Amino acid sequence: MRAQLAILPGDGIGPEVINQAIKVITAIGETFSHQFIIKNGLVGAVAIDETGDPFPQETEALCRQSDAILFGAIGHPKYDLDPKAKVRPEQGLLRMRQQLGLFANIRPVKSYSALSHMSPLKEDRVAGVDFEVYRELTGGIYFGKPRGRSEDGQTAFDTCVYNREEILRLTELAFNAAKRRRGKVTLVDKANVLATSRLWREVVTEYAEQFPEIELDLMYVDNAAMKLIQQPGHFDVVLTENMFGDILTDEASVITGSLGLLPSASVGKENALYEPIHGSYPEVAGMNKANPLAAILSAALMLENSFGLSEESKAIQDAVIKTIEEGCLTEDLKSEKPNTTDQVGDRISELIKINTLAESKQ
Ligand code: IPM
Ligand code: MG
Repeated sequence: MRAQLAILPGDGIGPEVINQAIKVITAIGETFSHQFIIKNGLVGAVAIDETGDPFPQETEALCRQSDAILFGAIGHPKYDLDPKAKVRPEQGLLRMRQQLGLFANIRPVKSYSALSHMSPLKEDRVAGVDFEVYRELTGGIYFGKPRGRSEDGQTAFDTCVYNREEILRLTELAFNAAKRRRGKVTLVDKANVLATSRLWREVVTEYAEQFPEIELDLMYVDNAAMKLIQQPGHFDVVLTENMFGDILTDEASVITGSLGLLPSASVGKENALYEPIHGSYPEVAGMNKANPLAAILSAALMLENSFGLSEESKAIQDAVIKTIEEGCLTEDLKSEKPNTTDQVGDRISELIKINTLAESKQ
C-alpha cells in the first residue's frame, strides 16, 4: 500500500513524540512492504511564529491532500500567560477540527495490567477497564455564537448550540462501535438543566429504538464524573457533547496510570486526524523525557481506522505492551532510571521488526 501522511508535530513535546511515531510507521512500512510518504506541516505556536497564523492555508491544503493526518500537540506558555493575546495556538487546533469537518473524537481508554499499580485508583477497579469515548468535536459551547464580551467589557458570554444532525451523525458512530464491542452506550449529558442536553436525549433515545440489542444508559455528567472513579468498568461506549467529553477524557486518561498513554482519532466525512490526547507539556519539551506511547498508539489507530491495516496496527500494539512489560518506560511511568523518549521509540520499532520476522518464519 502507498499512502501520504500529513505530519503536524506542533508545539512543546509534539515534535519529539511524533518522531517516535514516524520511526514506528517506518518500521511497519519496511516489514510489511508499505510506502508511507511523509509530508510535514506547521500548526500551533510554531506556525504563529513563522507565518502569523496557527493553522496556515498551506497546512490545511496539505491535510486535505493527504490520506491521514498525524498531529502532536499544541500550546505554548507565552500565550497562556497572556489572556489578551489575539492569536492563540489553540485556535489552530479548533480551526483545524472545524475546517476539516472532524466532528467525531474517539478516545479509547484501556488499562494495561503491567501498569495498574500506577493508577491513582485501587488496582481491582482498574483491571480490565476498556471503554471508548465518542466526543462531539465541532459544535457545542466551543463554537456556538454569539460569544464574546458586552460593549462595556463587564460581561462575557458563550453559547452552547446543537442541532439534530450534529447529534445524529456522532450517535451513529457510537452505536456502530457498541455493536463491535460489548453492546452498551452511555449517553452523558446534563438534561436536568440544559436544553441542548434534552435534545441529545431525545435524538439518541429515538435512534436507539432501532437497536434493541444495544443497551442505552442515560447518565448526568456530574454522576458520570463520579462513576468513572468508582466503577470505570461500568462503561463500554460513552457518547457525549464537546465540553463534557473534553473534561471526562482527561479524567479517564489518568485511570490507566498516565496521560501519556492515550491515543485519539478525530474523524469527519473526508479527513481523519490522529493525535495523543496529552498536551504540549512545555516543561520537558526538547529534553527527551516525554512519553511517546500515546503518539505511537495514535499511529496504530491511524493504520487500523484510515487504512484497514489491522495486522500492522496490532503489531504496534503488541510491541507497546511488550515494551511496557519489559519496563522500557519514560519517567512518568518509572521514577528510577527512566528511559528516554528515543529509547522507547527505538525499542518499539525494533520489536516490530523482530516479531514480524519471527512470525513470518513460523
Ligand atoms: C483536547 C484539548 C483541546 C480541547 C484544547 C487544547 C483546545 O484540551 O483536545 O482535549 O479543549 O478540545
Ligand atoms: Mg482536553
